[in-house]
Amino acid sequence: MKSFSDLLNKPTVFSDRNVLSPHYVPGTLPFRDTEIEKIMASVVPALKNERPHNMFVYGKTGTGKTCSVKHVLIKFSEHKSNAKHVFMNCRMYNSRYRVIQKIAKELLPTLDSMGFGLAMLYEKVMEEVGKGTHLIVVLDEVDMVKDLDDLLYTLTRANDELKAGSISILGITNRVNFKDQLGTRSKSSLCENEMVFAPYTATQLQSIVRQRAKMGFKPGVVDDSAINLSAALTANDSGDARYALKLLLKAGEIADDRGINKITDKEVEDARRSVDTDIAFEAISTLPDHQQLVLLAIANLALDKGKNTRLTTGTSDEEDSFLTSGEVYEGYCTVARKHRKPRRSARWYREYLNDLEMLGLITTVESGAGMRGRTRLIRIGYPPTDVQKIVEKNFSIIESKN
Ligand SMILES: Nc1ncnc2c1ncn2[C@@H]1O[C@H](COP(=O)(O)OP(=O)(O)OP(=O)(O)O)[C@@H](O)[C@H]1O
Ligand SMILES: [Mg+2]
Repeated sequence: MKSFSDLLNKPTVFSDRNVLSPHYVPGTLPFRDTEIEKIMASVVPALKNERPHNMFVYGKTGTGKTCSVKHVLIKFSEHKSNAKHVFMNCRMYNSRYRVIQKIAKELLPTLDSMGFGLAMLYEKVMEEVGKGTHLIVVLDEVDMVKDLDDLLYTLTRANDELKAGSISILGITNRVNFKDQLGTRSKSSLCENEMVFAPYTATQLQSIVRQRAKMGFKPGVVDDSAINLSAALTANDSGDARYALKLLLKAGEIADDRGINKITDKEVEDARRSVDTDIAFEAISTLPDHQQLVLLAIANLALDKGKNTRLTTGTSDEEDSFLTSGEVYEGYCTVARKHRKPRRSARWYREYLNDLEMLGLITTVESGAGMRGRTRLIRIGYPPTDVQKIVEKNFSIIESKN
């Protein structure tokens, strides 16, 4: 049996794995000077004893919003002033109550907030800020807050009551159209200042990956072409640096598993499949039950079809890789019965298809008025065996809990 020392001394391609973690904030962020300066300009009034305007930062996933804001906050805290900031991810702090509670706890670390109502927590925060603190509340993934209009109203209104100090908000989201869904009042309060993060180009991704490879791997480990491939594989111009960096980390783990000291195109390509499965796993396991069941039905049918076409013609042509909306609905009813979930009506089913398509888990097209009549044709976006495994696993966990 292996000992800890064997494991600790196992050869590795990494020199510092931490720098490849998604939470690492690099000391320099190439291609984001303008954005960073704009965020700095937006928060600097707090350091001069004035209330900063609220700010709203948006842009697609992996464009560096969170790390740019964190980068600014690190510098911000280095200055002595009456200013403070509280950073939170609203996936976790997803209601007005939780946000205010988090602010109270950060301002008053010794406060035992258990059992405090909203009004009480708010009073505590106001008392503390009223001593002259200019507080910046950073709400990352702000779209996750369920009662956002109430939260924005509460935080903005606070300034009318404060004799000294202030509260301002810095909201971040990757839902580019999110602003349009806000109420008029919330919109005008949150969007006093705005900043959009554009997707990175393939060349920019290359330098980001190269910089990180230099920091995270031993010299000479990563092939230049493997770096370029990581950038190139980053899906259809999404400009998502997180994805490119995930590929690099996974490629390193694969090299370690294989006991080799080089990362080549091969490791990056193998990393892609595993990263895509991880991403699919996350996307699928957080879906509500019925969307998962529809997806499972699609996966089952796709596999059956695959088998049939191979049996009958030996090939699977384009047209046959699509499923009809009708057969998928039937399949959904079957799996719903199997997992003892009352099936939903066809109207809901169409909504579920829209949700799945939005997440990129399936693609659909309208068929022409051909033999089958007009119908929606459906194709799965991930390997069906992976989808089956993920959904079946989720459901067996849910069922064993009941
Ligand atoms: N300019 C850059 N230089 C170096 N690394 C970067 C840069 N931009 C982003 N990254 C890295 O890419 C990853 C994703 O960045 P970040 O988390 O800031 O994206 P985001 O815009 O907040 O995405 P999401 O909307 O999904 O939260 C992180 O690991 C980050 O360190
Ligand atoms: Mg982010």
